[in-house]
Order: sequence, then C-alpha cells, then structure tokens
Amino acid sequence: MIEVKGLKKIYVMGEESVAALAGVDLKFERGEHTAVIGPSGSGKSSLMNIIGGLDRPTAGQYLFEGEDVATFDDVQLALFRNKRIGFIFQSFQLLPRLTALQNVELPMIYGDIAPRERKERAQMLLDRVGLGSRSGHRPAQMSGGQQQRVAIARALANKPDLLLADEPTGALDSKTGKEVLELFRELNREGLTLIIVTHDLGVAAQAKRRVTFRDGEILSDEYGVIEEAIIGTTGAAH
Ligand SMILES: Nc1ncnc2c1ncn2[C@@H]1O[C@H](COP(=O)(O)OP(=O)(O)OP(=O)(O)O)[C@@H](O)[C@H]1O
Ligand SMILES: [Mg+2]
Repeated sequence: MIEVKGLKKIYVMGEESVAALAGVDLKFERGEHTAVIGPSGSGKSSLMNIIGGLDRPTAGQYLFEGEDVATFDDVQLALFRNKRIGFIFQSFQLLPRLTALQNVELPMIYGDIAPRERKERAQMLLDRVGLGSRSGHRPAQMSGGQQQRVAIARALANKPDLLLADEPTGALDSKTGKEVLELFRELNREGLTLIIVTHDLGVAAQAKRRVTFRDGEILSDEYGVIEEAIIGTTGAAH
C-alpha cells in the first residue's frame, strides 16, 4: 500500500541542519497495524507528517498505491489528505466552537456529500465510538478520552484507507488510553490500516509490527504481538 524509499527530511536553521529522516526505506501493507517507537527527536512525527501529506520530504520517494505523493502539488496533497488519510494527534485538535457532531462533519464538507447524509454519517460515527448521546457537546464539555474518540470519529469521516495516530494516548490517563487503544484494535480488525506513534511500550506491544527509530534511521523492524506478561502489566515505558 505504502512504500517510502530513501526518504529524507532535513531541517535547516541558519548554519545548522538536522536530518530528522536520514534516508528511510519502509513498506506498509494494507490491513497492517504498526507501532512506531523510538526516543524523542528520532524522526517519528516527521515520518508521520510526510505519510499523512501534512509535510513534504526533502528527498526520496513516497509511493501510495503506486502514486508518488512527493510530487503532488498543494491541491493534490490537500485532496489526498482529505480522502485517503485519517490523522489523530495527541492534543485532539478539535475545533472548540463546534459540537462533536459538527467536528465530525467537517471533513465531509469538503467532499460532495449532501448535508443530511453528512449529519447521519457523523451521528453513526459518534455512535460507533460510543458517544452517540454526546453529539451536541462542545470539546470543553467532554473528557480527554471523549475528545479523542470524537477525533477518531472525525478521522473516519471520509472512509480513509489509512489511519495515522501520533501519540494518541499521550494526553490520556492509562484507563482512558486503554479504551482508545481498544477502539483502534477493533478498527484494525475491521480492516483499517493503522500506524501509531507511541512512547508507551504497552501500546507498541499490542501492534502486530514495531518499527523503532533512532536518529532519523530505522533501528529495528519486528513482527508479532508481544504478550502482556512479558512487558509487565502496567505497560508503561517510563
Ligand atoms: N519544524 C522543525 N524545524 C526544525 N527542526 C525540526 C522541526 N521539526 C522537527 N525538527 C527536528 O527534527 C528531529 C526529529 O523530530 P521529530 O518531531 O520527527 O521527532 P519525534 O521522534 O517525533 O520526537 P517526539 O517523540 O519528541 O515527538 C528533531 O531533532 C527535531 O528537533
Ligand atoms: Mg513526535
């Protein structure tokens, strides 16, 4: 589904330059559930932002179902983001003045879906994430876990091919984080391709694949769910 080749992201600040991605080769198959781990500053978010079409690489190829996204212009990239990708952030990034329902409707406004169908689908998605009765609430009237579930519903609005989540449980307590994670696993079981960046080894252990970054390079790439007994019951990284 996805292949990056020789992917580089170089940030230049005056005399200094930082290789956030130093030439990365990676493939993701449809239906995979991958955790991306590694220390702070190792390039995880830089990779996600490129895969999600939020940023462009300095060099290298990014093939999404055979198309080279790195060559897309701004309009093509915006369309790609809206149609193919669902993005979930640590800080939820909901619009504070909109209700849960309106937040979920938002990505569909850029599509050509009729208002009534849009509302029905938004309500169905809120039901799906267990927030059917909160559709009229604004973000400030919801807990962190509820806000993140609204963000997940929003990310699913346009039936994306790929769901990207950058530290999705980072701002949540461990119980709420587990619930959000269970939702991700369900979505993956239903066939959605998932890439989740996390500091939490418990989260990473539940993924079928773990890609570890260090200094903008891949340190390891391993498959297989790790049983909870091996990593301990808390699952905390630190
Ligand atoms: N906009 C930017 N301008 C300059 N340097 C940047 C920028 N964004 C990231 N970097 C640098 O690129 C490197 C990789 O950053 P990145 O955000 O990808 O790391 P990360 O693995 O997501 O870290 P964290 O776990 O802290 O979120 C870091 O050295 C960072 O300082
Ligand atoms: Mg990051």
